[in-house]
Amino acid sequence: MNVIKAKDYEDLSKKAAIFIAARMVQNPRCVLGFATGSTPEGTYSELAALNAAGVVDFSEVTTFNLDEYYGLPGDHPQSYRYFMNEKLFSLVNMRSENINLPDGMAADPAGDCADYERRIREAGGVGLQLLGIGRNGHIGFNEPGGEFSRETCLVELTEDTKAANARFFGADETVPERAITMGIGTIMRAGEILLIANGSNKLEILDKMINGPVTPTVPASVLQLHNNVTVIYCD
Ligand code: GLP
Repeated sequence: MNVIKAKDYEDLSKKAAIFIAARMVQNPRCVLGFATGSTPEGTYSELAALNAAGVVDFSEVTTFNLDEYYGLPGDHPQSYRYFMNEKLFSLVNMRSENINLPDGMAADPAGDCADYERRIREAGGVGLQLLGIGRNGHIGFNEPGGEFSRETCLVELTEDTKAANARFFGADETVPERAITMGIGTIMRAGEILLIANGSNKLEILDKMINGPVTPTVPASVLQLHNNVTVIYCD
């Protein structure tokens, strides 16, 4: 793994955005995997600025997001589709037909998950996948467990994750119990991975991810088995 320490959050965001922008310059028709959470917000804002400055062009780019809460429609302010629209897609020249997220309202989640995998394959696979990391080591919404999931699937969220994400929800709202997430296998099939982590509360899990045993009890540790991973973090 290529591990880079940024000076601070602003530096991390700029470095991550330039990293992604470089891939977009190399291949204007690239397929990007995007993530949500608070960490990528700065990266998206920097990418939007690069787009406004004419440095990068999203018009031919295809995106697949990692995950979506199950039970939230795309216009719900806590849905990941809403987040992506607010933080990036509405700010850049993406074509709506090139934007892909799991459907949080899918009546047939298993069918929707299989369809998501098919769409990724038909797009030629994800070239660069951006990841954050949960404080319990989850990537996407792949929670610690007994095995690595192979494909996009419906999962139960852990109490720890619901507690961590409750800050985004109002006092009268509850965090959904379930989510649809790319599987660990889906993530590992990306050509390249960029994982970003912000803050001293992520240092312990980063150490386990990079230096600990590869185990589904720390889902991100599987990235040790991928041959093209860059980590940018700051404390
Ligand atoms: C959520 C997302 C993850 C993300 C994690 C960390 O649970 N499903 O993809 O990595 O939050 O979020 P944050 O960046 O806010 O710490």
